[in-house]
Amino acid sequence: MSQILDGQMISKEIRERIKEEVNRLEVKPKLVVILVGDDDASKIYVRNKIKACENVGIATEDYILPKDTREKELVDLIEKLNKNKEVNGILVQLPLPKHLNEDTIVNTISPNKDVDGLNIINQGKLLNRKPVLVPATPKGIITLLKRYFVEIEGKRVVIVGRSKLVGMPLALLFNHANATVTVCHSYTENLKDITKQADILVSAVGKANFISGDMIKKDAVVVDVGINRQMGHIVGDVNFKEAMEVARLVTPVPKGVGPMTIASLLENVLECYDLQKRDMK
Ligand code: GUN
Repeated sequence: MSQILDGQMISKEIRERIKEEVNRLEVKPKLVVILVGDDDASKIYVRNKIKACENVGIATEDYILPKDTREKELVDLIEKLNKNKEVNGILVQLPLPKHLNEDTIVNTISPNKDVDGLNIINQGKLLNRKPVLVPATPKGIITLLKRYFVEIEGKRVVIVGRSKLVGMPLALLFNHANATVTVCHSYTENLKDITKQADILVSAVGKANFISGDMIKKDAVVVDVGINRQMGHIVGDVNFKEAMEVARLVTPVPKGVGPMTIASLLENVLECYDLQKRDMK
């Protein structure tokens, strides 16, 4: 019988711990969130992140900029925030409108304020097994698996999706935990043959029902990163009903990876706060 990996419950535990930590601080940490444009999904994500910060006592400020904002204006704003000692973390919600270069923007963020861990410096540190600020979704996935005592060492992990935000950093984290990792993507041939071998299967594709029951190994652990809208509901990449018939553990959508991302983001804000305090000493 399958069980769910309850991201909502674990996230709540983490958020309560963070709230206590923040309560003990004299000066509250502060996160600035920047949203360019009016993408509906991004607006919801930003709202949820701000609400989660406020619930644990982390101060926030948001900049909602028009979709035709010029790159120079955004770079100037980030540089100003980099210098502002009251700001601990800076998050630019992705994706950005096409005319803005994502690499330029995330690399403008000071590495010790980069809550998303997307800056080239933080990605390099992760590659070199010296992770400091790790992207929130991969970090949350590993935390969730550990809380459920899922064995990673020696296991075959298959990740579908190779983004800088999820697939690639997650592959490194699994690799550091001594798993054998395969990263699949839109050019992968015979995908099902590969996913069927996974002891731990992660899907971060963004397509509803992309992973069917026949792509899953019996008793596997299935992690669904997808957030897709389908007939007015939010669903993941995985056919949840089919997965529950084959797998041992499955993350639901919602209440699986999503809340873990939020909890890890809050942890990263505290990490930024500590990094800056250390820099001042
Ligand atoms: N868009 C989707 N997920 C994320 C995330 O974790 N961080 C940022 N900045 N943008 C996103």
